Amino acid sequence: MLNSIYLNCFIYFILVFSVQARDLKNVLESKTCFSNYFAFGVATASYQIEGAWNVSGKGESIWDRYTHEHPERVFDHHNGDVADASYYKVKEDVRLLSQLGVGFYRFSISWSRILPDGLSNNVNEDGIRYYKELIDELRKNKITPVATMYHWDLPQSLQDLGGWTNPIIADYFLDYARVLLDNFGDTVQVWLTFNEPLSFCSDGYGGDDAPGGRSSGFEDYMCGHNMLRAHGMVYRMFDQKYRNTTKGIMGVTLNLPWMEPATTSQEDQKAADTARQFMFGWFAHPIFSQDGDYPAVMRSAVDANSKRQGFPRSRLPKFTAEEVKAIRGSYDFMGLNHYTTYLTKQGSRKIKTKPSFDDDMNVRISQKDDWPKSNSTWLRVVPWGFRKSLNWIKANYNNPQILVTENGVSLEPGLHDTKRVNYIDAYLRALHAAIFKDGCRVFGYAYWSLMDNFEWMRGFSERFGLYEVDYKSPNLTRTPRLSAKYFTSVAKTGCLPDDFADYTYKTD
Ligand SMILES: *[C@@H]1O[C@H](CO)[C@@H](O)[C@H](O)[C@H]1NC(C)=O
Ligand SMILES: *[C@@H]1O[C@H](CO)[C@@H](O)[C@H](O)[C@H]1NC(C)=O
Ligand SMILES: *[C@@H]1O[C@H](CO)[C@@H](O)[C@H](O)[C@H]1NC(C)=O
Ligand SMILES: *[C@@H]1O[C@H](CO)[C@@H](O)[C@H](O)[C@H]1NC(C)=O
Repeated sequence: MLNSIYLNCFIYFILVFSVQARDLKNVLESKTCFSNYFAFGVATASYQIEGAWNVSGKGESIWDRYTHEHPERVFDHHNGDVADASYYKVKEDVRLLSQLGVGFYRFSISWSRILPDGLSNNVNEDGIRYYKELIDELRKNKITPVATMYHWDLPQSLQDLGGWTNPIIADYFLDYARVLLDNFGDTVQVWLTFNEPLSFCSDGYGGDDAPGGRSSGFEDYMCGHNMLRAHGMVYRMFDQKYRNTTKGIMGVTLNLPWMEPATTSQEDQKAADTARQFMFGWFAHPIFSQDGDYPAVMRSAVDANSKRQGFPRSRLPKFTAEEVKAIRGSYDFMGLNHYTTYLTKQGSRKIKTKPSFDDDMNVRISQKDDWPKSNSTWLRVVPWGFRKSLNWIKANYNNPQILVTENGVSLEPGLHDTKRVNYIDAYLRALHAAIFKDGCRVFGYAYWSLMDNFEWMRGFSERFGLYEVDYKSPNLTRTPRLSAKYFTSVAKTGCLPDDFADYTYKTD
């Protein structure tokens, strides 16, 4: 008895120390290092880089339609018709990834390139060929493919049926996911069903992004509801029919901007929690919490407002008990996008007759003037918010395994991007503290983005790339920035280098 306990301890001791030998060495040399098993990668999305919007059988997506019908709504009338022409540059782009030394590449699959009409009775063989070629090239270069099934480019033909506001969309998404798993399940092991439902439901169906629903307080909730149902259905199918044969894992990417109370007052702290629940809990609570379903604050606020506004039922739809059960726990890991932080104050509490998400949430959001700016109005550099976000997720959802699927900063064009180096370095230090000091379980980090690309309503004006893209050259030449050199060093050594100097952002 004593022997076997002793033996177990001994084996444990050996395991722990062999895994952490390098870390121990680095601690002694006072370097900030991630473990051998931590993965570094970069991310992109189909509409933002592929171009080739109308070739080889691809169907029209809502972003094709929207940018063509409403060019005036997009910065300088830009669109993704050509974008970075990545559809034609599989080898070149994988070479960029290989030069970065990253372990994984997160890309998304264009639904309408695979199913031109959105429906699975018509599969576009060229779409299958394109992604097979990309995946094979990645694997040849020992880069793990991480595929997002939906990064906002819904087939227009499905939008014509109401898109994410029509409950039938969940069935069609399930059909699409089946086609993806049948064709790519043997070569892709890491799947994300959706990217940032908060963005495509709020901005797409309740705001100005494609398809331009502008029906906040109604369509955004319907979109979220059907997206959650669709996610649960796909995860259950994956679990039952594909997990054992593909040996894959599946998650969903949610975005959490950190919400910090503007003052220590009880109202502002409550406002911060309400904002976290509306913006993140909306999707995280049904999937990642013990109880499932929508967060209680959201349920009660929307129910109460709907009643006061004279509606016979809540504007926030209700799940059946079976749906709650199918959605709850439908994850192997959480994909997290995090960029920035906001301050929260309690809203004015005037319930408007015209409903909206903002009115339901009733929180005033701002940023501090002295937080460093980026080239995006919504994005300021606040590294400590990243650590707080990770800790809040740990505390609220039973410390799930997390893959950071996006983190990044926009700056004006230029190759000597020390501000981007500083941003990544500061956010990685915050992440390191969250893992090693706080015990958050994060197994990888993807920088957004591999290269400059079509930044939705901001066109090509806001640049997030490690590689600069020259939009004036017909070749769309990619050139590594200083940040690409920095990130190469991080990806290859697993440690934050100290020879890039000029680290200026406070991390706590
Ligand atoms: C595809 O779109 C481009 C504009 O981006 C247009 O010039 C071209 O004629 C279109 N091709 C087809 C086959 O419709
Ligand atoms: C998958 O494999 C595990 C372990 O071999 C087994 O217990 C489980 O029943 C399998 N699941 C399905 C759906 O076949
Ligand atoms: C972003 O950079 C452009 C110049 O490339 C500038 O005109 C614009 O004002 C900047 N936007 C922000 C929010 O800093
Ligand atoms: C564009 O690419 C072609 C083929 O690689 C090359 O011959 C040409 O010099 C490039 N042009 C520019 C302007 O970079």
